[in-house]
Amino acid sequence: MSNFVLNDCINRRVDTNMSLSERVKTLTPSSTLAISALATELKNQGHDVIGLGVGEPDFNTPDYIIDAAKTAMDEGKTKYTASGGIPELKKAIAKKLKLDNDLEYSTDEIIVTSGAKHGLYALFQTILNPEDEVIIPGPYWVSYPEQVKLAGGKPIIIETVENNHFKVTPEQLEAVITDKTKAIIINSPSNPTGMMYDKEELEKIGEICLKHGILIISDEIYEKLIYTDEEHISMAQISDALKALTIVINGVSKTYAMTGWRIGFAAGPKEIIKAMTSHASQSTSNPTSIAQYAALAAYESDSNSVTEMNKIFSNRLELFYDLIKDIPGITCLKPKGAFYLFPNVKEAATKGGFATVDDWVSALLEEEKVAIVPGSGFGSPNNVRLSYAASEDLLKEAAKRIRRFVENHSS
Ligand SMILES: Cc1ncc(COP(=O)(O)O)c(C=O)c1O
Repeated sequence: MSNFVLNDCINRRVDTNMSLSERVKTLTPSSTLAISALATELKNQGHDVIGLGVGEPDFNTPDYIIDAAKTAMDEGKTKYTASGGIPELKKAIAKKLKLDNDLEYSTDEIIVTSGAKHGLYALFQTILNPEDEVIIPGPYWVSYPEQVKLAGGKPIIIETVENNHFKVTPEQLEAVITDKTKAIIINSPSNPTGMMYDKEELEKIGEICLKHGILIISDEIYEKLIYTDEEHISMAQISDALKALTIVINGVSKTYAMTGWRIGFAAGPKEIIKAMTSHASQSTSNPTSIAQYAALAAYESDSNSVTEMNKIFSNRLELFYDLIKDIPGITCLKPKGAFYLFPNVKEAATKGGFATVDDWVSALLEEEKVAIVPGSGFGSPNNVRLSYAASEDLLKEAAKRIRRFVENHSS
């Protein structure tokens, strides 16, 4: 390159920070993914780290699903697909919704997305105008508020209380509704709390949504990971009127140990799904073709592998919950679903002289090499999230280290 050209480039070099959009400058990166990345980095450096930050099953994707993907590749199913997903998969999802949830959806009311996360992202992009408000009961999954903001909307957080099992009450909901309210997110079973809404609770929330014409985003990604006799209920099941306001979000990530395949779906009113599909046509084009065939095999299979995984998670919950809840300064509600404990550790942190629970979490990682996620990212700064998607031996060892850490810091 001649000096003249080089100098010209240097002179015209833009300040890369200045060139970032306001949108991304205020974006908070996912704390759960950050802690997983840090745990992996420490492990790679040779540290004996136990990573309980991760939000994914530790099982491998079942073989029959992997085989279906291999067959799809062998058969040349490696091209673009319809933006909203292959028709066979949409049909299988409609069948799943009928069998599992007693919900009737036609295939033009379903879109296959690149993970449930992308389904939510595309949905917010599709329904939100600037300043539209989305009600998010907290503790919430870390991505909800950020995705709402990315779409120009305003997250309105309702702080729920432990005494009410971290569930939003009708009174709390009524109190925050304005003429800008567009939607509410209901995540049951919940990440991070593992709590579930029953039919009566959904009816009361639904009634308010109907009165004010508020859309309901029902994130049901943990529907198959429930460890009590309670049944998962979708808001869309409560009545036809509520179904017309609800967008169901779900996918294969958690149920079939398929987090890396990136397949989710949204089911809801035709107009919204059609607009989401147009959005996909200009953003992703389509979810990965091979992964769609794998998801098809998952939905068309009998549910043996799901039942087996569920049993293992249930045993781990019993084990880990008993070990954690008895540590001094830690209190914990017993979750009903998902694969997380969400204990309150404020007393342990304060007794240990830590200014915040975030500091307590950092010290736990530094001293005992246990990686967990601070509750602040979930809107609950006194809590921490511990994933029990790990072997029983690792969970026992993690609980031992956490207890030792608390005892070493109780002045
Ligand atoms: C509550 C909740 N919704 C959605 C998702 C996204 O799942 P997916 O892997 O399908 O994008 C997650 C993943 O952690 C989650 O916890």
